[in-house]
Amino acid sequence: MAGGRARVAVSILDADHSNMAYAIRRAEREGADRFHIDVMDGHFVPNLTIGPLVIEFVKKATSLPLDVHLMIEDAERWVAAYAKAGADLIGVHVEACPHLHRTVHQIRDLGKKPFVVLNPHTPPESIEFVLGDIAQVLVMSVNPGFGGQKFIPAVYPKIRQIRTMLGARGVDVSIDGGVKIEHARPLAEHGASVLVAGSAVFEAQDPAKAIRELRAAAEPGQ
Ligand code: DX5
Ligand code: ZN
Repeated sequence: MAGGRARVAVSILDADHSNMAYAIRRAEREGADRFHIDVMDGHFVPNLTIGPLVIEFVKKATSLPLDVHLMIEDAERWVAAYAKAGADLIGVHVEACPHLHRTVHQIRDLGKKPFVVLNPHTPPESIEFVLGDIAQVLVMSVNPGFGGQKFIPAVYPKIRQIRTMLGARGVDVSIDGGVKIEHARPLAEHGASVLVAGSAVFEAQDPAKAIRELRAAAEPGQ
């Protein structure tokens, strides 16, 4: 597996949004490697979540990196606000960015790490010409919009194809949507280095154990 040891990015979409600071501090204590924040605009995806203001407060509650997954149209208009709010990595959807190269470079120029996101039907070739400019590829294993959906296994060969396209580049391949413990090992074997987990953590009886087990199952040589 490329990208070093496996990491678990806890998606706060499934947390209690009326008690976000508590949920964040708790997940950090429970062993999250980073936080994954889902921003939805009600246009690109059929749901509406949070904006830069909430991210500003999330940033104050944790020292872990924030992965901000923008499921929005007009990302170019908004990336500066998310950078200012405290995002460490900023991800944009290929399907929503007609000027993907420009948007990725805009994120870099803001001093943040860009990542690109592919919906389940979007082919890996669509990102071929920005591979040298990004820190991570995020592969959706559900159609974006909601937490708690069912994992789409067609992503396995897609992850392998992306890993092959990346070659020796130190770019993470992350997977987002419906990831449960039984997927962790095969995902890592196909080349994923970062697992996004929402309901697998927040619905677990023992979230610390869920995070630990996801990471361990995705470690090379386990
Ligand atoms: C879906 C989001 C995901 C998702 C993760 O649109 O991008 O981050 O909420 O939550 P689970 O793990 O519950 O699918
Ligand atoms: Zn997400």
